[in-house]
Amino acid sequence: MTGSGYTVLGPATLEALHDPRRDFAYDVLVGLSEKPKRLPSKYIYDDEGSQHFSRIMSLDEYYPTRCETEVLERYADEIVAPLLGGGPINLVDLGAGDGKKTMIVLDALRRAGADFTFVPIDISEGAMKELVARVRAQMPDVAIEGLVCEYTEGVHHLGREQRDRRNLVLFLGSNIGNFNRVQSRSFLLRLWSSLGEGDYALLGFDLKKDIEVLLAAYNDREGVTSAFNLGLLRRINRELGASFDLDRWRHYGTYNVFSGAMESYLVSLEPQVVEVEALEQRFAFDAWEPVHTEYSYKYLRSDVEALAHDTGFEVAGRFEDSRGWFLDALWRVKRGGHSVAPRA
Ligand code: AVI
Repeated sequence: MTGSGYTVLGPATLEALHDPRRDFAYDVLVGLSEKPKRLPSKYIYDDEGSQHFSRIMSLDEYYPTRCETEVLERYADEIVAPLLGGGPINLVDLGAGDGKKTMIVLDALRRAGADFTFVPIDISEGAMKELVARVRAQMPDVAIEGLVCEYTEGVHHLGREQRDRRNLVLFLGSNIGNFNRVQSRSFLLRLWSSLGEGDYALLGFDLKKDIEVLLAAYNDREGVTSAFNLGLLRRINRELGASFDLDRWRHYGTYNVFSGAMESYLVSLEPQVVEVEALEQRFAFDAWEPVHTEYSYKYLRSDVEALAHDTGFEVAGRFEDSRGWFLDALWRVKRGGHSVAPRA
């Protein structure tokens, strides 16, 4: 204690206090203490979850990846065109995953002879290692500087460290759909405030469509989505010493027409009590009690236009697949005299 009677904890002390396992335990505690119970979807994406998601992307029923690949293959040259001729570029990829779609955009920049650095950002170090290795093997001439962190941390870092470069930020694969309406607005406002006038974002939106198509995509026949979702309980067992018996749970994916979201749940098949050692706490579940794990919001084209307008961007391009199931929207940061719309 100093003479002042208080201590301001400095960055090094705060850094030392930061403990991802404690954050995880805390979020599990908060989520399982709520009614109805929920668990944050970000914890699905550890190395195992990322591997499951790679398998999901190649499933017959999971159309978004194929649709977006079609869009990028057809329009990548048009998408990168506005960035060319204005100095060095950062191609920033938020939540790059296995990076296959990003490669299409990278290829377009290479073809155009652009001076660019590839900056993938991913929460999974395993996925990042594989991605860096793949890019180095397939495109040894591409400069790559990956960041392992959460999207919003990456965006913040980007705004502070990369002021001298023009940015094209990719947020593909309907990742924005995993945010609710409030979160997506605040994420986009944060992105907008971290970027400079004339920077671009390419955002993948899954459009509203036949509900049967949606249900099949999130309840695949092989059970990969089920394993992906149940992986969250496995992770709580492994990292927090919990006693979830996975045979007593099932994955349930349903569409909420009113909110426009696919919703994923883990449903308890019988009454049970689960102990979580790290929390020194037991949680009781009734038979058929759901735990919410993920939202995947679907959009109308008009929702996308309104979102751009409300978060400070202007729409520079709209690119859709041949069935009109998926939209990649190219947005440009607009500054000066603009005020973002308050939430309705
Ligand atoms: C990563 N994200 C865009 C996927 C989606 O479609 O919401 C995650 C997913 N969850 C179940 N299947 C796929």
